[in-house]
Amino acid sequence: MNKNSLLSMRDLTKEDIMNILNDALLFDDCYRDWQLPLKKALVANLFFEASTRTHYSFESAELQLGCKVADVQTSVSSITKGETLYDTIRTLEEHGYDAFVIRHSEDEYYKQLEGVKVPILNAGDGKGDHPTQCLLDLLTMYQEFGTLEGLNVVICGDIAHSRVAASNKTALELLGSTVRFSGPKFWEREGYPIIDFDEAIKDADVVMMLRIQRERGAKLEAMSDSEYLETYGLSKARYARMKKNAIVMHPAPFNRNVEIDTDLVEAEKSRIFKQMANGVLVRKAVLKRAFGFAPFEVK
Ligand code: NCD
Repeated sequence: MNKNSLLSMRDLTKEDIMNILNDALLFDDCYRDWQLPLKKALVANLFFEASTRTHYSFESAELQLGCKVADVQTSVSSITKGETLYDTIRTLEEHGYDAFVIRHSEDEYYKQLEGVKVPILNAGDGKGDHPTQCLLDLLTMYQEFGTLEGLNVVICGDIAHSRVAASNKTALELLGSTVRFSGPKFWEREGYPIIDFDEAIKDADVVMMLRIQRERGAKLEAMSDSEYLETYGLSKARYARMKKNAIVMHPAPFNRNVEIDTDLVEAEKSRIFKQMANGVLVRKAVLKRAFGFAPFEVK
């Protein structure tokens, strides 16, 4: 496996994380037009699960950096003829691609790809990890609070199936913040004890809402959308009880009036669309790192 791959937040040190966030910030400042000084930066994106933000913000980042991009149509690739993921990626590697961005429904799919020599950027593996989502979440908190130490973060919703919850728990705990979990007891996950949302919200700096991951088998039995919103979601009443400087986050796609009241999506405390802009910045930073470039010097 290439050492510049980004597979899981578990593989990054505090210093690695801060280097990526600083590069992302500088991509929004004095390195806006920076491009990869390479003739060869052919990137292949392979999304085996639905995606809008991760897919197209990776593509935007790649194009802004001057990469050439192949958007591999996974639904009509030879995977559908029974070819393994390893054989598909090795084939594309022989075709000259210099890096792969992959989203796949299998947890730790990348373990099958040990023999691939070019960097792999994990765009989400099952309920395992979502490192670039986590990095854009961290960037959003860092911009807001100027630190990632000592924050109180509550993540609420379908914890059992969420790779976003998993990556954020790993990284925020490493960085010295507290992460608590809330939501239906039936979506509790080992190591992620569920606490009462109304209790957690009172002193939370960040309230991160999650979508119900029905595609991963999450079922909401005998509960309507409005009951879910009232019981576990971010309703107007709960929003009103948040701390003065606290913010609302959501990796999106969000389901309006299920996990979040529609009027709160772009409310004052919401940073949901800011997160999307940050997605391009952190993906530029991780691509730069994947191609072996050291962190930027501040000009
Ligand atoms: C998340 C994902 O795919 O894990 N979304 C994203 O990448 N922006 C969360 C989700 O789909 O609910």
